Amino acid sequence: MSITDDILKISMSEDEIKSIVERIGKELNNDYLDKDPLFIGVLKGAIPFMTDLMKQINIKSTLDYIKVSSYSGTKSTGNITIKGDMPNVKDRHVIVVEDILDTGKTLLELKKLLISSGALSVKLCVLLDKPEGRKYDISADYVGGKVPNEFVVGYGLDYNERYRNLPYIGVLKEEVYKK
Ligand code: IMP
Ligand code: MG
Repeated sequence: MSITDDILKISMSEDEIKSIVERIGKELNNDYLDKDPLFIGVLKGAIPFMTDLMKQINIKSTLDYIKVSSYSGTKSTGNITIKGDMPNVKDRHVIVVEDILDTGKTLLELKKLLISSGALSVKLCVLLDKPEGRKYDISADYVGGKVPNEFVVGYGLDYNERYRNLPYIGVLKEEVYKK
């Protein structure tokens, strides 16, 4: 059985993603001309978006990835932990590339960390924005599209690590959660 059978509806088609990535690529090429920015993709969700976006970037730039885990609940203050190497951001214009902005916790903490690590500037580039999910005061600088407060998968986004390989964004059927 194919994973596409678990999808209730498509929220963003392959064609829509393609034109969004082209549009954001153009914006970044204009905004970062001569700034030699550093793109940092947040693993693992940003992999497809980052891969496609990089092919639209025609300015001098470098690319890196970061793996973060954020702890919610207990008495955590909302700090994040970097798993593995931390990219060297000193004196760099950083563009964080992420799959989705939901509560905002991950990107808010990551942005603070990058600034305190010496980045000249930090902008956030997300494929999806779920404004209704926001709990922290943060917004993205580059947004592919908005989604309502539904759980979406595909194109990097997962449900229990599955569905990241779908070429589009979709909503899972309810029965998938109940299994
Ligand atoms: P935030 O810190 O709450 O903004 O969480 C962002 C992270 O939560 C994203 O990087 C995703 O991994 C995950 N996430 C939030 N909403 C969804 C969704 O609808 N589908 C899949 N993952 C999601
Ligand atoms: Mg993620």
